[in-house]
Amino acid sequence: MNVLLGVTGGIAAYRGCELVSLALKRGHAVRVIMTANAQRFVGLTSFEALSGQPVMTDTFADPLGHIQWAKWATVAAVAPASANVIGKLACGLADDALTTTLMALPRGRRVVVAPAMNTEMWLNPVVERNLRWLGELGRYDIVAPTEKRLACGDVGPGGLAEPADVLAAIEAGGG
Ligand SMILES: Cc1cc2nc3c(=O)[nH]c(=O)nc-3n(C[C@H](O)[C@H](O)[C@H](O)COP(=O)(O)O)c2cc1C
Repeated sequence: MNVLLGVTGGIAAYRGCELVSLALKRGHAVRVIMTANAQRFVGLTSFEALSGQPVMTDTFADPLGHIQWAKWATVAAVAPASANVIGKLACGLADDALTTTLMALPRGRRVVVAPAMNTEMWLNPVVERNLRWLGELGRYDIVAPTEKRLACGDVGPGGLAEPADVLAAIEAGGG
């Protein structure tokens, strides 16, 4: 499968690297798009070295890149998915390379969304509503976060699901 992985700005961004490794070991090809804020947590070099592909960060660096990458993807995933990007996807916003490429994804292709955030963010009713909206669209598969002691010290739901579980959802969504 051709897996398009979006990485957003959260502590769990480094676990996206694990996901890329795992997907490659399973024989999938992976291309990564990082938000600007994801790059505050992990350098794009890690993802480029692991995937063997350039990382997309800027919609305008390659004018047709977002269309070509969207067509290339058999399945897309956002892991970790920030509250911000979940909100953008739910509202149909496309103001960066990740959300623009996902907007251009051909019909029938699925998007796995693996949220990771502070427990209060996760329990915020607007996040809950946005995920419900995404679920209702029939294109998005939500991989629930785990409950654990989070990087911020809070104990509760919000930890990124295990990369193996995210990959299982990706493989289930590939058609
Ligand atoms: C140290 C730190 C950790 C953060 N962790 C998360 C997180 O795990 N999940 C989340 O949704 N936002 C988190 N944020 C907030 C996001 O980085 C912020 O909302 C940002 O605008 C998200 O940008 P993006 O969605 O374009 O990547 C964190 C912020 C900081 C400073």
